[in-house]
Formats: sequence, structure tokens, C-alpha cells
Amino acid sequence: MQEYIIEGGRKLEGEVYISGSKNASLPIIAASILNGSSTKLYHVPNIHDTQITLKILKYLGCKVSKNGDKIEINSKPMKSTEIPEDLMRQMRSTVIMAGAIVGRFKEAVFTYPGGCEIGARPIDLHLNAFKKLGINIEENAGFIRCKCDKIIGANINLDFPSVGATENIILASVLAEGETTITNAAMEPEIEDLAIFLNRMGAKIEGAGTNIVKITGVKKLKEVSYKVMPDRIETGTFLCAAAVTGGNLILNQVVPEHITPIIYKLQEAGAKIEVGNKKIEIQVPKKLKAVDIKTMPYPGFPTDMQSIFGAMLTTAKGTSVIIENIFENRYKYLTELQRMGAKIQIEGKMAVIKGVKRLSAATVTSTDLRGGAALVIAGLGARGITKVENIEYIQRGYEKLEEKLTKIGAKIELKNT
Ligand code: UD1
Repeated sequence: MQEYIIEGGRKLEGEVYISGSKNASLPIIAASILNGSSTKLYHVPNIHDTQITLKILKYLGCKVSKNGDKIEINSKPMKSTEIPEDLMRQMRSTVIMAGAIVGRFKEAVFTYPGGCEIGARPIDLHLNAFKKLGINIEENAGFIRCKCDKIIGANINLDFPSVGATENIILASVLAEGETTITNAAMEPEIEDLAIFLNRMGAKIEGAGTNIVKITGVKKLKEVSYKVMPDRIETGTFLCAAAVTGGNLILNQVVPEHITPIIYKLQEAGAKIEVGNKKIEIQVPKKLKAVDIKTMPYPGFPTDMQSIFGAMLTTAKGTSVIIENIFENRYKYLTELQRMGAKIQIEGKMAVIKGVKRLSAATVTSTDLRGGAALVIAGLGARGITKVENIEYIQRGYEKLEEKLTKIGAKIELKNT
């Protein structure tokens, strides 16, 4: 077990290089199953969730080699189509592998995925879509068995624009017979990144990044090299770290258009932001003002930034209202922040945060990835020494967080307990 010890109250200043996107890397790594040959990936973050995905690929028989942020996968030797239960349960997005496995082998066996405790997170949309593609699904003793002779393109309308379901349908249908159309598809940039990657492999996907995605099945896919997009949630996290400490940061290797709602909300709160080519500069000369937030599917305000903003707003001037519309259990971190003196009321989807002058350090526990990162943000702004426990959650999604924060002036130490 590890924890962070943070001495708060230091202004963050300097430059940060943003890592490759976790949420783009995971489906792209899964997609490397489809070509049955070699895939070279660059800018893949070295975090727990990418490590688990690669571990599953190795278990299934793929050859995987790693050198810094470069990963080479050869899926030719892959034979097994069954994802082991213990690995499946280690994170939510293992379910994405099902689409890639069944897409290539016309069979896959897996169990319900694990992941952050932020809500029920069912996979009904994934499984219903598979059925529409002609895939037979049997559930027995917690195992889900997918099988078919061939996958046939279909029209699929999603009840909700689920990111994972959109990705899974794309993965399952690139090698299908005929055309698949997803309506009410999720529009997140990570889906577009997956589609660009697959198209380089020889797939025919149109409209990714909009709410209608068309996939025309192809017979074969080829070798590919690809650089994964930057992580927009890591970008937002560092912007909030600067904001909470009254700092001044330049973030490099970013795509500013991906974080438009975050930039607007920070500006509304009083931050000065300049957007350049693959670069964002933030200056926070005075105390932030309260702002209201409603999480929405992209291009709305991202649910993954809700907790990071929530932590930042605990010391903003005035009262902020947050409405969480995507996940029903994403306010656990707020209870931890109350231990640091935050004034918060939670009612269903709504959290009302009354800004206090400053938080006081305390021992707090991460309960999920972004909620854990929110506690780090709170600790950076608080008076005294904050201990953040259970940081394994944070390490699922942030690469070298303590190293990056130390370089820009934070006092944060990683300790084994
Ligand atoms: C992805 C992201 C996650 C982000 C989320 C929403 C990855 C690896 N993770 O998660 O960081 O917070 O998008 O932007 O990319 N739902 C169903 N049935 C389903 C699928 C989803 O009811 O079959 C519901 C979920 O419970 C949730 C909502 O749809 O309430 C959105 O979930 P979804 O977009 O699928 O999120 P993930 O793909 O799991």
C-alpha cells in the first residue's frame, strides 16, 4: 500500500508535459487484437490500467514489448479467447476487449468487469448491441459467452451515448459483413482517436466524434504505428492544481479543443487562460469565484473532471452547485473533503459547495481514481500536511503524478505503508 504526503500551500509554477490518454490507450491496445499482426504505439501512459490491458493481451497469447511510452504488440500468435476472471475484475474497460476478441475470432468469454465504485456501471448496452450484430450471448455462473459464425452489420441505436458501448460496437464490427450504423453514439475524442487508429489499420469508419458512426466491414486489417492523443483529464487536473494554488503553469502536448468546457469554467471562476498550438497557459492571480457545473456526455462538462473541480471549488468565493448526471455514486470524495473543513451538502445528483477560506490538512482516503486525484488537489491548496491514502486508485490513471507535481514546486512524497 502507498500513500501521498502533501505539504500544501505552495504556488505551482513551471511547465508540464501531458501524458498519452488513458481512455484512448485502452481501446486502442484492445484493437491491436484485430489485425492479427504488429502494432506499434507511442505516447502510451505507463499506468496500472494500461499494464492490466497488456497483461491480458499476453495471457491471450500476444507478444508484447515495452520501451518507455512505446509499446509493440504482435497479435498473430494469439489463440485464447477467454479473459481470466481475476484480470477482468481489475478494471472496467476490460469489457472493451470483448468487442475486439469477438470481432476477430467470432467468440469470446469474459465475466462482468470491475472498476471504480462510482455507480452500478452495467454493460447491457454493450451486450444488446452485440446481439444486434448477430452474436449469440449466453450467461452462466457469472461468465458471458459470445459466439457466432459471422458478425453481420446492423443499425444500432444507443439508449444512452455510452463511451464504452460505442467503442465496443466499433471494435466488433470493423471485420463484420456489411455496414453498421450507430446512432446516438458517444462523441468523446477518445472514440475519434480509436477510429483514426483503426482506419490507419485499414478499417472503414466514418463519423467518429459525431453522434452517428458508420462502420463498413472490411475483410482484413494491416500493421500499424500510431501515437495516442494527449490525456484531456490529466490536462484538466493540472489546470485545477494551478488554480487551487494561485499558480502559473504551461501545459505542453495538449489538445485545447478537447477541454473547451473546462477552460470556460476556469475562466468563469477567474483564471486567465491562453491557448496556443498544443499548449495551454494558466495564470490565477486572485481567489477563484464559485461556478456551477453540470456533467454531460461530450462536448459537455466531463464527469471525470467533476471531482477535481469539486475539490477546487471548496475554497472558491461563494456557493457552487454541481449536478452529476452520468454516474450516480460520484460524490464519495466530498465526504473526505468535509474532514478537511469543506462545507458541502449532498442531495441526490446535486452537491452544494459553500466556499471556505482554506481547507485544513487531514488524513483522507481515495475511493476512486478521479476522487483520489481530487484529494490531492485539495491537499495542494490546504494548510498543513495532508495524507492521501489508497493512492492505488490514483495510480490507475495518472502517470508519475508526484514527479510531475514536484517539478512544478509541489511538496508531495510517495510513501510505502
Ligand atoms: C468511460 C470512461 C470514463 C468516463 C465515462 C463517461 C474509459 C475507459 N472510461 O467509461 O472515464 O467517466 O466514459 O464519460 O473510457 N451505462 C449503462 N449501460 C451500459 C453502459 C453504460 O447503463 O451498458 C451507463 C453507465 O452506468 C453510466 C453511463 O451509461 O451511467 C455512461 O457510461 P459510459 O459512457 O459507458 O462510461 P464508460 O465507457 O464505462
